[in-house]
Amino acid sequence: MKLIIASNNAHKVSEIKAILGAYYEDIQSLREAGIDIDVDEDADTFEGNALKKAAEVFAAADADAVISDDSGLEVDALGGAPGVYSARYAGEGHDDAANNAKILEKMRDVPTEKRTCRFVSAVALVRRDKEDIVVRGAVEGRLLTAPHGDNGFGYDPLFFYEPLDKSFAELTAEEKNTVSHRKNALSALRERLEQEK
Ligand code: IMP
Repeated sequence: MKLIIASNNAHKVSEIKAILGAYYEDIQSLREAGIDIDVDEDADTFEGNALKKAAEVFAAADADAVISDDSGLEVDALGGAPGVYSARYAGEGHDDAANNAKILEKMRDVPTEKRTCRFVSAVALVRRDKEDIVVRGAVEGRLLTAPHGDNGFGYDPLFFYEPLDKSFAELTAEEKNTVSHRKNALSALRERLEQEK
């Protein structure tokens, strides 16, 4: 059974390979599968974008299944923003530093107890002759007032994770992979696959 991961992000690819290796003997990233496709992530939910990406890659690929994830940060004091716009919060073509600067500025006067936020990941699995599966994972945190740590990517330096008393950018990749939103979504997916057995 061949599974294609609708991503070339090395971090996502290795995490998915580790968790779904028991269900698919051949797992390939887009690059490994020789697929070059640019999906417009224009849905207004994480689930909608994940499903759209998986379905478009499935239509273009020769595989038994395609998996994709869409993720982002929801800040309660900003009404859930940046949400599905997380990657382009500071505008198209801007980097992580610009996104982080924008969110810090918007949150400048918000007190600690109101700085609650979460990372969310929706994972979609589109399969040949089987129903689609879409699951969600999240991890709760608090938005810091300045960046802390050099690991990870995106909003990790601003995301304080209370149980480990560190920002996500102060965790090793291994530590982050045991508690992350993506890990939680992939665990939910594995449970659904187990129920089908
Ligand atoms: P995508 O799902 O790869 O398109 O990610 C969307 C955006 O959400 C990223 O560009 C980051 O800004 C943010 N994001 C998603 N997951 C994480 C994470 O684990 N750490 C930090 N930022 C994240």
